[in-house]
Formats: sequence, structure tokens, C-alpha cells
Amino acid sequence: MKKERTNFASKAGMIAATVGSAVGLGNVWRFPNEVQSGGGAAFLIVYILCILVLGLPVMLAEFSLGRGGQSDVIGVYRKLTPGKKWWLGGAIALLAAYTISCYYMVVAGWTLEYLVQSVSGSLYEVAPGGTLKSTLEATLAENVAAVWSPLLASLLVVGANIFILLRGVQKGIEKMSNILMPVLFLLLLILCCVTLSLPGAADGLLFFLRPDFSEVTPAVVMNALGQAFFSLSLGMGILVTYSSYFPKRDNLVLTGVTVTACDFLVALLMGFIIFPAVMTFGLGGNEAGLESTALVFITLPEVFAQMGGTQVWSTVFFTLLFIAAVTSTISISEVSILYFQDRHRFSRRKATLVVLLPLVALSPLCSLSNGALADLKIAGLTLFDFLDTYSTNFLLPLAALVTCIYGGWVLKKQRFVESELTNGGRINRFSARYTVFMIRWIAPLCLGAIIVYQLLYML
Ligand code: PHE
Repeated sequence: MKKERTNFASKAGMIAATVGSAVGLGNVWRFPNEVQSGGGAAFLIVYILCILVLGLPVMLAEFSLGRGGQSDVIGVYRKLTPGKKWWLGGAIALLAAYTISCYYMVVAGWTLEYLVQSVSGSLYEVAPGGTLKSTLEATLAENVAAVWSPLLASLLVVGANIFILLRGVQKGIEKMSNILMPVLFLLLLILCCVTLSLPGAADGLLFFLRPDFSEVTPAVVMNALGQAFFSLSLGMGILVTYSSYFPKRDNLVLTGVTVTACDFLVALLMGFIIFPAVMTFGLGGNEAGLESTALVFITLPEVFAQMGGTQVWSTVFFTLLFIAAVTSTISISEVSILYFQDRHRFSRRKATLVVLLPLVALSPLCSLSNGALADLKIAGLTLFDFLDTYSTNFLLPLAALVTCIYGGWVLKKQRFVESELTNGGRINRFSARYTVFMIRWIAPLCLGAIIVYQLLYML
């Protein structure tokens, strides 16, 4: 008898898990930075357009493949077009997922180091003869490039992944998301209330929400496309994997819109937190300072240091950041785990260990490449930067491009995507047609542009 596939146990859990994947460091540290350099609300408008033309359609295409194919990222292609080479598209996504997980574990580890240092208060102990800023800069260098603490932190993140993922989809991923996502939103709202009551809140909001279209250059548009893409966790097989656990009757369009809206809301709330705070304390401002890592690890701690309850707010913020990072790492590990379960018939336990145990060596290696092993270069980059650059800039858009061509053209005769999105013609007929049009014509153009732009940029 064929074994029933696992599904998420509840709709809320399913959304929480998918939002947990989407909401990550991209929302917290990359987004505000891009808003600042992209002309405030002008960037926001461009970003929303990018979500509508690229983000949401690609998300829905991935959902259709996953739920319709009922398999892992590679398996869906094999199942739907047996004997053809289209599964290579899934292989690219799988490769991207695994390489990204190597360094994302490390970055999640940094947030853990900052969390511990916020709780203990050591983050705010100014070194003798230094200023808070110089101390924070030294701490950042230490937390990223030292040998032991980042290594240990990344191992703890890998350990947390093993712990949660061994428990499976419902008892592990879903249960964790059901607890952590409400906590994340609550912490965001608390921080928002605090920063919006600061004296510089109005100036901050004005800066955030006043559109300056003169700043919108082609580079800004490319950044917005890239951001929409990364932030929604597209092109890494995550959504194909998670949606293979969605129930057959689910309204995929509604789910996609909900996930996208939540992801956008978190980014927006981060703006409401960061700009008022930075304006009030005059750090960064227009000219300087909001470079992405510096923003969360230097500028924001400087802000907290000037507020009453420094350690409390700092702890709240880094807990939020840690949750955002860990729920993303979980989703990215699940891509490879499901592959081993479905394709190679591994038990959950075996698949989890086969995927995560190598990371016990690979993540520390990535971590060390920021310090002790910085001289070890691949194509002129450290291991960390190499994985980051090539997987996010090339593998992700390439995998998504294949998904679009596959869903839009190859499966055209069966009207596969349309049928999944409409649940066999019953609902969402207009949005399904819109999605199919986008993944046939517009999204491939955008993705092609991203790839060409990256290539030109590299040369
Ligand atoms: N959406 C995530 C983010 O914004 C991207 C991501 C997901 C990265 C999963 C790694 C793993 O950070």
C-alpha cells in the first residue's frame, strides 16, 4: 500500500511555516538598507511592483509544482515529465539550497552571539579608552572573524536544525513555527511602539515614506527585483518542498497572497522601527551608516544604548533576528531532507542526519573563511563570499527561470499550473490566468535581466 504523504496539520501552521521561511535576514537587514539608498517610498513602490510581476507569480508557480507533483524539488520534474532532463532545474535549486544553508547557518550564528551578549550585557561594555562605536566595531569583527565563538554559534544553529527537523514536518517544523512566528510578530510590534514614540519618529517616517524618484536608477530596480526574489525564498526549492505538504483543497492563490503580505509587512515594520530610531539619535541619517551589517550590528545597538532599558530592547531585537534566521534555515534544510526521503527512500531520521551532519564541518569552514582561513580563495573570494555570491546571484534566478519556463511552456498543454491554482477550474480563474501570463512572458524577462546584470557586474 502506498504511504500517505505528510501534510501540514493546520492551515495556520502551514502559513506560519511558509512565512517563517520568507521572513529572514533579508527583511530585517537588507530591506531598510535598500529603502534608504533607493529613494524611500519610491523604492517601496518599485518593490511592490516587483512582487506583483515577479515575486508572487513565481511563488504560485512553485506552489503549483510542489502541490501538483507531490514530491521533492527534483522529484516533481521527474514525475511530471519522465525521461526528460527538466529535473536539472530542480537540481540547480537543490544545489542552491544546500550551498546557501552552509553560510546562512553561520549568519544565524552571529545573531545568536549578539543575543547572548545582549542578555549578558557584555555588548554594551565599552572597552577602556574606546567609544561605544569603536567597541561595537571591534565586537562585530570578533563575532564574525574570531575562531571559536562564531564557529560554536553556527554549530548550535546546526544542532537546533537537527533537533527540530528530526521531529518531522508536523511535530517539528509546524510546531516550531506555530510558536515562534507569533512571538516574532509580537516582538516586532513592541519594538515598533517603542520607536514610534521616540521624538524623531516623524522625521524618520517622513524619510521612509517620502518618495524620491530621482534615486530610482536601473541599479535600484535590479536590487528591488533581487530583494523581492530572495525575501520570498524563491528559486531554492523551499516553496516546492513546503507546498508538497499543502492539502489538495487549499486555495494556493490565497495562501501565496497571505505569505507575501506577511513578508512585506515585516519589512515595512522594520522600516518603522529603524528609521525613527536612527533619526532620533542622529546616527547614520542620510549620508552614512546604514550599510547592511553595520546597521543591525552597530547602528541599532548604538540606538539601544541611548534608550532607557538598553539591554531589554537589545534582547528583544536580537531574539527577533534569531527567530527570523532560524526559521529560514529550517526551511532550507528541509529541501534536501525531502529529496533524500522521496528520492532515495531514506527514513526521516537518516535523511535529516545525512543532510545536516556534513554541515557540522561545512558551516565552521565557512565561518573560519571570514577570519583564520581568509587567505583560502576560490575565484578570488573567500569560501563564505563565494557561496553567497554565486548561489544567490546565479543559481537562484536560474532555478526560478527553469521553473517559469517549465510551468509556463512545458506543462502548457496540460494547463498544469492553471489547474492547480484554480483547483480544477473552480476558483481563482482570473488570478490563475494572470499568473500563467506572467510566468510565460514577464518573469523570465526579469530573471534573464537579473542574470545578465549580475554577469556584467561581475566582469
Ligand atoms: N527569505 C529569506 C530571507 O529573507 C531567504 C532565505 C530563506 C535564506 C531561507 C535562506 C534560507 O532571509
